[in-house]
Amino acid sequence: MKIVVIGTGYVGLVSGTCFAEIGHEVICVDYDLVKINGLIDGVMPIYEPGLEEMVVRNFARGNLKFSSNIAEAIKDAEIVIIAVGTPTNSITGKVDLSYINAAAEAIKANLGGDVIVIMKSTVPVGTCAGLSLLLNTDSKYICRMVSNPEFLREGHAIDDFLNPERIVIGSDSEVEGEIRQLYADHLKRNIPILFGNFPTAELIKYAANTALAAKVALMNEIACISERVGADITKIVEGVGLDSRIGNKFLSPGPGFGGSCFPKDTKALLQIAEEVDFEGYLIRAITKSNENHMTNIVSNISKICGDLSGKIITILGVTYKANTDDVRSSPAINIINHLLEMGAVINIYDPEGMSGAKNIWGAKINYCKDPYAAAKNSNLAVILTEWVQFKEIDYKKLSEEMLEPKIYDLRNVIDIKEPPKGIKLYKLGING
Ligand code: NAD
Ligand code: UGA
Repeated sequence: MKIVVIGTGYVGLVSGTCFAEIGHEVICVDYDLVKINGLIDGVMPIYEPGLEEMVVRNFARGNLKFSSNIAEAIKDAEIVIIAVGTPTNSITGKVDLSYINAAAEAIKANLGGDVIVIMKSTVPVGTCAGLSLLLNTDSKYICRMVSNPEFLREGHAIDDFLNPERIVIGSDSEVEGEIRQLYADHLKRNIPILFGNFPTAELIKYAANTALAAKVALMNEIACISERVGADITKIVEGVGLDSRIGNKFLSPGPGFGGSCFPKDTKALLQIAEEVDFEGYLIRAITKSNENHMTNIVSNISKICGDLSGKIITILGVTYKANTDDVRSSPAINIINHLLEMGAVINIYDPEGMSGAKNIWGAKINYCKDPYAAAKNSNLAVILTEWVQFKEIDYKKLSEEMLEPKIYDLRNVIDIKEPPKGIKLYKLGING
């Protein structure tokens, strides 16, 4: 099928490339010329394992193209996928739909025939119905609108896209034939597909992200209780996760959930509830719990170090999780900003997040070439991201660089059974 993807970010680039991989003809469009020109030259705008080879392979065989000319790209399209951002508006606190609306206007203005428009961005309930109306009012062509939320995770995006646990489709018109053709490769492998109306599909996406965020927030609270009562959170995670009704995934405590989706989507779900006069007590508590958790971590750091003024704190990991370069809404932002306010000097190292960090902090913090340089003369090293590279650090050597050999491991990176000698190790959820 001839597909155009609008928005060449984490979701758009991965979806477009994977649809090309399974045999469709895809044009990925973005108004960011630097991204598009880079992609044409084989330069990836994001770090995502396995993506580069797949982009280069499909670009070379001609079924994946990149363009900044939306008018030219969509005139022959059978399917147009919207994959632009839906961030939280910093003033209103609501979902910013301006990118979605701009993409829809561009589609309407440039159509060359009837088309199916698929919404892959995460959008509030009512958005797809509104766009269906907009696209079909005073238009020469019929636009069948489809809600098809995306569930991929950064760092696992290609596998998640090609082997999802389900495909969710919402529509108000007959699209099943074309959707089955689009996902033929998935369906022949018996991946479940669910059809429903727009609000059902839109709400499934928010419900899934909020459920996962709730699990993480709960285990972060349990970890705080665990360390106060002398329990071991790693054993608790195992003991709870062996209950198949709960499952063993998304139970790992850490510095708080972050990223461009969990924080914004739990807030958006609360607004969806408010708009229908429903008080979502539990949903509200998830955001509060997560923010409170980061405040607790800062207070623990200040208990470990005493007065933070002039103290050097090494931060290992600024991305919101491992295997991504994404620092959007990373817990590191909240934690580092508080430490800076308290007068600490911050040295950071992250395998992929340094350029994102420079955009946030500029000259306010120090960027180091490796973990050992980041530990130089430091009073405490804090592990915020579970990068596999941090498991391979020689912590003995690291501690020798430090003024005070203290490490606060918030991701259970350091094996408690073999704690490096001479180091005072603090772990989330484990006392002593
Ligand atoms: P992103 O910021 O990485 O990418 C969005 C891209 O869209 C940018 O390159 C931007 O330049 C481009 N863009 C914006 N408006 C445009 C327009 N009118 N025309 C052309 N290009 C335009 O965003 P993302 O992380 O890929 O997220 C996209 C959507 O998918 C969001 O709604 C998000 O909630 C959802 N989502 C994200 C993930 C994820 O892991 N990042 C997973 C599932 C769903
Ligand atoms: C999440 C969902 O997992 C995807 O299904 C969804 O498509 C995506 O959001 C989205 O809508 O954008 P992602 O944000 O890439 O994916 O990352 P996750 O792996 O879900 O992690 C989110 C946050 O929770 C991270 O900060 C991570 O460190 C934290 N987390 C996760 C934990 O602290 N503990 C865990 O056990 C799992």
